[in-house]
Amino acid sequence: MKHKVALIGFGTVGQGLAEILQARATALEVNSGVTFVVVAVSDLLKGSVHQPDGLDLGLLLDLARRGERLDAYPDGPGMIKGWDSLTTISASQADTVVEVSWTDVKTGQPAISHVKAALASGKHAVLTNKGPIALAYHELQAAADAAGRLLRFEGTVMSGTPSIRLGRQALAGCQISEIKGILNGTTNYILTQMEAGTSYADALASAQRLGYAEADPTADVEGFDALAKVVILANALLGAHVNLTSVPRQGITGLSQADIAAATAAGERWKLIGRVTRQADGTVAASVQPLRLPFAHPLAGVSGVTNAITFTTDLLGDVTLVGPGAGRQETGFAVLSDLLDIALHSRS
Ligand code: HSE
Repeated sequence: MKHKVALIGFGTVGQGLAEILQARATALEVNSGVTFVVVAVSDLLKGSVHQPDGLDLGLLLDLARRGERLDAYPDGPGMIKGWDSLTTISASQADTVVEVSWTDVKTGQPAISHVKAALASGKHAVLTNKGPIALAYHELQAAADAAGRLLRFEGTVMSGTPSIRLGRQALAGCQISEIKGILNGTTNYILTQMEAGTSYADALASAQRLGYAEADPTADVEGFDALAKVVILANALLGAHVNLTSVPRQGITGLSQADIAAATAAGERWKLIGRVTRQADGTVAASVQPLRLPFAHPLAGVSGVTNAITFTTDLLGDVTLVGPGAGRQETGFAVLSDLLDIALHSRS
């Protein structure tokens, strides 16, 4: 079965996905019976190319590696170059639009408009930017339901580590009473380094050097990145209607070396924890704050940039998932997992 894809954005995540699709094409066909065909790529800075029979991913990746524009892609029959993102979304014959453009996390744009346009033109939509889902999950999901199309966003929380899919699909049938997670790698790295004796400033500087931190690390250390993920988990998994201003948020900047040492002496460890809890009255409470966890707690043993999430359920008790929370290949894989989910749904 062919599944046609239009990529909106060809930066780190778009290229990460293209690399995986190129390397795994045969395995995906054999194991899942799905042949993914990228019919269009449109990038604000790199230009755009549309080929109804499918583009050669190797050629696209070569252009990106050489820093050349997509307009340099070799001409062929039926090819159209220069379409902007909205034209690509509406006019391409894609089954699914993968929205991985540069998006303003505060406004969620242009991703929100791209996803709405994709659904309105009868296409499924996948995205990995957390802003649009944190800001407009219910609106976008309603648009998808009205259009009879699928909206997927695994990469918004813990990149390709399947936190959303675990909560929504694998644990469907359980009642989830609480979700608790280490949802930001930078702060977990800083706390781990501080416990080993590194100063906060030095630990943050190395997190930035290693490329873990957001462009503005305030988003990490003050808890805004974890907040967006908590809002997504609360709304998409527990049916809440919380937003970025209604959830209490505290980052790690108030923690001193002395606080860390005091926790260690007591057999505990500070973690920045995003938490979503279903209350006795059915409402959902959410928060982001540093918490001291005993060494024996599953989340206390998660160190460095690694992320983790614990679902508390009625039928299984606690289920904990540990894995990467960011990265080119990791987020590219998140998109692949969403594409497979959509393709297999479409087949059935
Ligand atoms: N800066 C984020 C982190 C990247 O440190 O986890 C993923 O959102």
